[in-house]
Amino acid sequence: MNFTGAHILSIGQFQRQDVEQIFSVADRMEPYALRKRVTRVLEGAILGNMFFEASTRTRVSFGSAFNLLGGEVRETAGFESSALVKGESLQDTARVLSGFSDVICMRHPQEGSVADFASASRVPVMNGGDGSNEHPTQALLDLYTIGRELGAKGRTIDGLRIAMIGDLRHGRTVHSLSKLLSLYNNIQVMLISPKELALPENIIEQMRSAGATVTISDELNNSIANVDIAYSTRIQEERFTSKAEADVYRGKFRLNQAIYTQHCEPNTVIMHPLPRDSRSDANELDCDLDDNPNLAIFRQTDNGLLIRMALFALVLDVVDKVDEFSHEVQWYNSRQQ
Ligand code: NCD
Repeated sequence: MNFTGAHILSIGQFQRQDVEQIFSVADRMEPYALRKRVTRVLEGAILGNMFFEASTRTRVSFGSAFNLLGGEVRETAGFESSALVKGESLQDTARVLSGFSDVICMRHPQEGSVADFASASRVPVMNGGDGSNEHPTQALLDLYTIGRELGAKGRTIDGLRIAMIGDLRHGRTVHSLSKLLSLYNNIQVMLISPKELALPENIIEQMRSAGATVTISDELNNSIANVDIAYSTRIQEERFTSKAEADVYRGKFRLNQAIYTQHCEPNTVIMHPLPRDSRSDANELDCDLDDNPNLAIFRQTDNGLLIRMALFALVLDVVDKVDEFSHEVQWYNSRQQ
């Protein structure tokens, strides 16, 4: 695809070669993310960061990625502080904000809302999550992480065996990741969820027609026995009609070090899009896994910076100018000690 000026809304818009292009640009962003070098290539550019739903890492990661390329960030968080509470349509907000920004990132609780917004925007829009629908940049950083984790063991994404665990019905990260995996070969997917929270049938169908082997289970321990990646997710409480309804499913699939040691192959990589729900009634990824070197959750968040920098560089067409506008950093860098 031609990335210049493109909206990034859904995994459906990518071919495998596009994903590989994003990953190779992400690799080139590492010296900047590690603060070995600084680039000012996006000096003067403005990112409009519009988050109408709770977010810590996606919002700050988009903002930091833009800053690391030398651009500035303007932010709105929450409906209450935006004109949407005054009845303004998303399209009008888009018409206005695209006059102020060079690119816009947006999260919104309604499925399809970011695409509606993008249809009226004069600048590229990136989907930071639209309801239960999609979270394409998270899926890209997840797959990039999978590639790096497996690559360190001499493996490729083709042939991957992955378990996806938790609220697969509402989890937009697993929706986007499943669609992304459909671009790869010989993928084995184990879907572990309560029956009521199963992955939507159309996404299962898409993976199967792409040649993936999909197995479904509502039991954790025996289903994580033969996988390379155990990808845990949070019960998406905000998508249920009441907290009590979500409570029924909370804490059903808890992974801790004892279960890992007993049931997983050695070196199974543990992933989670985060936030992990660490309250005692949920505790889907126990803190006793924190010393397990195969816990990749904070490598995922670090990789998110690389992927989002790559997307900005591609969409604003500066990939080959990043190094030209760069120099070494001067300050103390604790990452390199
Ligand atoms: C996810 C999301 O918002 O969909 N978080 C994230 O962006 N990393 C997952 C979640 O909230 O459970």
